[in-house]
Amino acid sequence: MMALTITTARSAPAAALLVGRGVFSNLDRPDDLPSAVLDARGFDGKLGKTMIVEGANGLVAVVGLGDSSEFTEQSLRRAGASLAKASRRQKAIATTLLTDATSVFNGLNPGLAAQCLAEGLELGRYLGGAYKSKAPRHDLKKVTIAGSTAKAVKDGIAVGQAIAAGQMMARDFVNEPGGTLTPAEFAKRTAAMAKASGLQCKVMDLAAIKKAKLGGLLGVNRGSTNHPRFVELTWSPAKPKATIAFVGKGITFDAGGLSIKSGTGMMTMKCDMGGAAAVVGAMSALKAANVPVRVRAYVPMTDNMLGGDATRPGDVLTIRNGKTIEVLNTDAEGRLVLADALSLASEAKPDAIVDLATLTGACVAALGPKIAGLMSNDDAFAEKVAGAAGDAGERVWRLPLPADYKSQMDSPIADMKNIGKPMGGGALTAGLILQEFVGDAIPWVHLDIAGPAWTDGEDVETRKGGTGYGVRTLVELARNW
Ligand code: BES
Ligand code: MN
Ligand code: ZN
Repeated sequence: MMALTITTARSAPAAALLVGRGVFSNLDRPDDLPSAVLDARGFDGKLGKTMIVEGANGLVAVVGLGDSSEFTEQSLRRAGASLAKASRRQKAIATTLLTDATSVFNGLNPGLAAQCLAEGLELGRYLGGAYKSKAPRHDLKKVTIAGSTAKAVKDGIAVGQAIAAGQMMARDFVNEPGGTLTPAEFAKRTAAMAKASGLQCKVMDLAAIKKAKLGGLLGVNRGSTNHPRFVELTWSPAKPKATIAFVGKGITFDAGGLSIKSGTGMMTMKCDMGGAAAVVGAMSALKAANVPVRVRAYVPMTDNMLGGDATRPGDVLTIRNGKTIEVLNTDAEGRLVLADALSLASEAKPDAIVDLATLTGACVAALGPKIAGLMSNDDAFAEKVAGAAGDAGERVWRLPLPADYKSQMDSPIADMKNIGKPMGGGALTAGLILQEFVGDAIPWVHLDIAGPAWTDGEDVETRKGGTGYGVRTLVELARNW
């Protein structure tokens, strides 16, 4: 999907057919809006609600900004998305949302506000439906943001558009069926993105993966006829102050392996590369977002199938760093591919590592469909990532990594089993296994995004399917290092 053309102007152009204007639910509406009509139609000004009415000089999309006491820059993302949704049949619109908000709040950061608004305008146009014979169409091509032409606003818009593009790229990857987004195809599209986005890219094929001794990735791939891939991406700015690593779980389809899932359990398992998609999507935005640190991404890609030579329960795999894992449940495969990826990431001694993975149903049971579980070996870094998530409008909640649970993974034959005891805490035991593969002194955060990577419901800024969760947090973290 082509990005919007978003320009700034001092005031809304007279020629605009439709102007998006913001109103707060608890404040008086501007005199020039047809208040009686809005009341009669039940418009309450709640955030995310819109209504199109006849104004004095043409159509007005009135956009709810919610209660002014709860308003932040983040609210403009939702407002922008609802405006874009309401403008589906317009080619060009103008909006005063930015000044409607900043006129009430002089403490608002205009750059961030513009960024959030641009993100929302882009995300609200996302339709999905790639395989519909009649492609769904969103006509909006051009938006004029009226009120300020300041550089901070223009820069904010550009950054917001790049981040939204990364998030929509992640959605497209997740929404692509497991049968077409094979590891080879995923790697190919990632390499094309890297070329277009100023990144270095290294793709390991089966032979290279064997040579690199990625035993977890090979073990999971063993039941598949699709070869695995392992992709490394690097963003290298001039004079980087630090190097951080992103790791993403890239299971292009999770059938569970011989510990096969139920039919229902498999229905959404094309989403099991949601962590990888978020990492790749975030990497695509680093150049446009002027990220000052070096970022290395490590993305293992395979499906988890059950062909004749699939890994059997009881088989032992040797991970890149030499540690061995007894696989008792082949459906606990994410930790196996991440073990290799975290080992490789640690070898390069980065200043910090963040991994994203649709890792456990247990995390969904604990936190539900919209909140990611955050686990970490470092309180300060955990705070930093949680802060970035907050600034990006993505919800996380910290979960512990209790050292005394580690004995649940004791194996009589190998260094560890790949599952804990069946007594709850499955998100934590998965996190504890990952921790075994992170270099001792490296601050590390694990985000279990099994819930928020996917949605079965519609919201203002999301559509059914992949959400692109995690892209904004990663870019925010790298941008403000
Ligand atoms: N990909 C799944 C986790 C998942 C579940 C993601 C639901 C998104 C929605 C993962 O590979 C898995 O199967 N985990 C098992 C682990 C168990 C066997 C220890 C799980 O959560 O049941
Ligand atoms: Mn699984
Ligand atoms: Zn999985």
